[in-house]
Amino acid sequence: MRATTVVCAGTLAVITLGAVVGSWRATLAGENEPGERLFVSGRVFKADGRTPAAKTRMMFYQADKNGIYGTRSGSPSEIARLRGSLVTGPEGQYEVWTIRPGAYPNGRTPAHIHYVITNHDGSVHHDALEFSDDPLVDTSKAAGGASGAAFAQMQTPVKDAKGVWTVRKDVRLGK
Ligand SMILES: [Fe+2]
Repeated sequence: MRATTVVCAGTLAVITLGAVVGSWRATLAGENEPGERLFVSGRVFKADGRTPAAKTRMMFYQADKNGIYGTRSGSPSEIARLRGSLVTGPEGQYEVWTIRPGAYPNGRTPAHIHYVITNHDGSVHHDALEFSDDPLVDTSKAAGGASGAAFAQMQTPVKDAKGVWTVRKDVRLGK
């Protein structure tokens, strides 16, 4: 999605276009960002878990490979250097190109990517992606049946033939 500024003679009119159009792809980390490349894809569904949530705004942010969000002080959601947003496609689909995040330097929090999703009514839904091969993940979540479920935070990444980690995560809104 892109905001377009339209400047008229004598007046300044800012018109935000693309509220319901745009790419369902975002790049959080460019090719030069240190780290292992990661491709995340999935679909977003309404609370029933079956109806695709199309044209839904998603924002992502994460730490770098060393577990650092940014050099400024402040909330990670504000200062994260690796971030991006998109609008889901007609089937609720989304795709993110990034790197695998590192665990926080405290060594206790599993590596993760934050999801901030804005429902059509303006309410905000938070989710996250964790990785089942992370030694810091909470195994009790797996024991509770979260691992492997399409909507779970914890998902299993697989490295493809090109050495890129791929992982799929679906989102169920309203939960
Ligand atoms: Fe975080």
